[in-house]
Amino acid sequence: MIVAIDGPAGAGKSTVARRCAEALGLALLDTGAMYRAVTWGALTQGVDLQDEAACAGVAAELELDFDEDGVLIDGVSREAEIRSREVDRAVSIVAAHSAVRRAIVPCQRKIASAGAVAEGRDTTTVVFPQADHRFFLSASAEERARRRAAQRGAGAGYEEILADIQRRDRLDSTRADSPLTLGEGVIELSTDGLSADEVVEALLQLIRSAP
Ligand code: DC
Repeated sequence: MIVAIDGPAGAGKSTVARRCAEALGLALLDTGAMYRAVTWGALTQGVDLQDEAACAGVAAELELDFDEDGVLIDGVSREAEIRSREVDRAVSIVAAHSAVRRAIVPCQRKIASAGAVAEGRDTTTVVFPQADHRFFLSASAEERARRRAAQRGAGAGYEEILADIQRRDRLDSTRADSPLTLGEGVIELSTDGLSADEVVEALLQLIRSAP
């Protein structure tokens, strides 16, 4: 079975996807981690991030997989490296390259071939349009900014975080290749005011009650 969970940054996809995968006994496919892995590879090799063909070359060369701790690059766990600030800053450039996406999407399908909960912002439309269950988690920009500010703790500027989220939403929705969008037949769930547990419960109920 494949469950695809889509939606904007900060809507709670990662937490919800991880808990759903555990509840359903399925593997978790974190598609964003794969774009992060390619970005880490490009930065490590000193590749020009604007050079689409060179970045696609890195994507084609790296062997990507997952274990219970996260991403494996050429068999080595690199979860900490792919979450660095350098990768945070650079990943949207690399993820926007069509040639990189063409290299990564088949790899995502292969990893999920035995069943998975796949999380990421084109999983319901491009990667797994035929998934058994497709969900789009939405939340207002204000709610997402509040959650992120709470995660970061005292001193995190709400207004600044909100502006950043609104900027990323604009970029993600207007990107030429695989923009963030609600696909036809995808079930949208607004997570405003819901805890992660409540969202997981709602998704599991929808999955279990589906014909
Ligand atoms: O979800 P995340 O922050 O780990 O995603 C990292 C980057 O990759 C982010 O810029 C969005 C992008 N991404 C994408 O383009 N397509 C996906 N399926 C998943 C993530």
